Amino acid sequence: MVSIQPLHEEFGATITDFDLTEPFTEERIQIILDAINQFSLICFPNQKMTDDVHIELTRRIGNPEVDHVRFGKTGEIDYFGVVGNVTPSGKLGSDASNTKFQRGNEMWHSDSSFREIPSFLSITHAYEVPGEGGQTLFASMRAAYQRLSEGEKQQIENLQVVHDYVYSRSKVAPVEPAHAASLPPIVNRMVRRNPVNHLKNFYIGSHARDIVGWDYNDSRKLLDNLLQRTTGQGHVYSHQWAIGDTVIWDNRCLLHRGGGYDADRWRRYMRQTRVAGLGPTLNE
Ligand code: OGA
Ligand code: MN
Repeated sequence: MVSIQPLHEEFGATITDFDLTEPFTEERIQIILDAINQFSLICFPNQKMTDDVHIELTRRIGNPEVDHVRFGKTGEIDYFGVVGNVTPSGKLGSDASNTKFQRGNEMWHSDSSFREIPSFLSITHAYEVPGEGGQTLFASMRAAYQRLSEGEKQQIENLQVVHDYVYSRSKVAPVEPAHAASLPPIVNRMVRRNPVNHLKNFYIGSHARDIVGWDYNDSRKLLDNLLQRTTGQGHVYSHQWAIGDTVIWDNRCLLHRGGGYDADRWRRYMRQTRVAGLGPTLNE
């Protein structure tokens, strides 16, 4: 019997007695989707993950997203991204460009919110984890939306937000021209609604640059205020990775960020796929 235990009062759950290497029947996929719609984040501890199982799970839920970093730089299609400081060619220290680049992930974000079709889910498996640090922090934009006043909900209901990868990443490192050119700014709706349970949330994060029709300073005031209230004390779940954790999170309504770690001292190696959303958020 599958057992589900909540991780935080606002969102998140651990699912035990569920072996991801067993065949993904329709029923088992439905258990995962139901849990995602309800909890937004689910952790399956002690999994014997392989790339074959990982991509199979991804495809059973939807379209796998092509890793944009590799694609933007080289045109190659790869469905796996590496989170951490280890590559197939060996360990990377804090100075390595990939490790530096990932410091951008220490800002609150929703994966691929800057893409025409943003991510639905990220599916991450931990193969090596630091002995200290290296947590990933999560916060719920659904729970935060519910804390807004009725007036605030009305104020944001019909807003549209420009999300721009080059804007967010330029804060930590220059983006290569070919990569930048592959990711022009796009527009998302501010308020999204879960298609199954109809719960609403706003949709922001580090890639959210400004609000369509607003000047930059007013945009920043609203976006920064919403972010601060989403990620305030008591609203954050910090996931301490253990080897064998497979964690799936709902990028439609969660923000996350890396908590940082000493990349010269520890190895951190996690593999990630993403399930693309159903279309541009403006069509939702
Ligand atoms: C991610 C991510 C940050 C981290 O996995 O998508 O942004 O360092 N991770 O855990
Ligand atoms: Mn991320």
